[in-house]
Amino acid sequence: MDFIWCCFVRRVKPQDHVAEFSTEKKVRLFFYNELKTATENFCSSNKSGRGGFGTVYKGILRDGTAIAAKVLSAESKQGVNEFLTEIDVITNVKHPNLVQLIGCCVEGKHRILVYEYVENSSLDRALLGFRSQKVKFNWDIRSAICIGTAKGIAYLHEGVQPQIVHRDIKASNILLDKNFRPKIGDFGLAKLFPDNVTHISTRVAGTTGYLAPEYAMQGQLTKNADIYSFGVLVLEIISGRSSSMPYRETDKLLLEWTWQLYEEGKLKNLVDPALVDYPEEEVLRFIKVALFCTQAAARRRPSMGQVIHMLSKPTRLNEKELTRPGLIPESKNAVSSNSTYSITEFSRSPLTHTQMAPR
Ligand SMILES: Nc1ncnc2c1ncn2[C@@H]1O[C@H](COP(=O)(O)OP(=O)(O)O)[C@@H](O)[C@H]1O
Ligand SMILES: [Mg+2]
Repeated sequence: MDFIWCCFVRRVKPQDHVAEFSTEKKVRLFFYNELKTATENFCSSNKSGRGGFGTVYKGILRDGTAIAAKVLSAESKQGVNEFLTEIDVITNVKHPNLVQLIGCCVEGKHRILVYEYVENSSLDRALLGFRSQKVKFNWDIRSAICIGTAKGIAYLHEGVQPQIVHRDIKASNILLDKNFRPKIGDFGLAKLFPDNVTHISTRVAGTTGYLAPEYAMQGQLTKNADIYSFGVLVLEIISGRSSSMPYRETDKLLLEWTWQLYEEGKLKNLVDPALVDYPEEEVLRFIKVALFCTQAAARRRPSMGQVIHMLSKPTRLNEKELTRPGLIPESKNAVSSNSTYSITEFSRSPLTHTQMAPR
């Protein structure tokens, strides 16, 4: 690491202040050329995917370390120092269920985030993707993904200062390591683009199913919005169905359909047909915990700490306390008509950028 800083100071004179900053803050800086070589010139065959913030490429560093380089496309109005301060915060958040940020490249206009490479791609491909890419997950793996993800979110909510609201919990942000253990990606990113909501608009258009109604409609962003998204994610993991694709049989989205099954006492129908031989009581408990997380009234949702407890132990849930899930009325039409609308179109109040609790 010292070698990199030392090179930086020596070779990139105009940005000496960046190198100084990195030494002080322990952010690892990469040369653009270094990442260009690692990713074979950002070759399309190394492209892992594209999200709201930019394109992700797989790369191999000279020392053999596999990385995922996220080339940020959204323009940040932040200066270099503010950018690096946020990177510093993210770099210092370490947990087995969070994707580790290794460093970044800040050279000229280039802004690239360098992450540890997580071998088994994302949960959306493995569980919800095309048949050829799908992995057959048994209950042990599915429940471990739910609990591991809950632990990662709980750490962001309760284990770091300042606390972090992820605000983009969804299957494509859950990466799976070689043993299919979950690692949450993209936490802390929204802070890098305080004036930019493009990525949210993209997400609203494509994956409405994860958005808590108070966030989507009033822009109220608290930990409760993450808890809602987590609940939806659990339903996807159990059903093997995407939250944004209406069920062909009923034309209902996943959460709405789950609630109907709950009221009819038929929750078992939700379980992925590919999941055979599972502990029924436990699976039903997971579904009910997900319903507690997705209640319309944000304050009724459990904390992530409580969620971990309810998922890990055979707890008896007080179902008398369970109320209706929060559903966004237009979401079904928006998804099925494939229209793209921005969050502001159905939100009167401006989005609040309170991704981190006040320092
Ligand atoms: N650290 C990583 N290791 C391996 N693959 C990754 C990593 N980060 C992202 N990816 C892949 O790149 C895709 C795009 O990622 P991203 O830009 O975060 O978009 P989004 O989260 O909106 O899907 C992900 O779905 C995942 O398959
Ligand atoms: Mg992502």
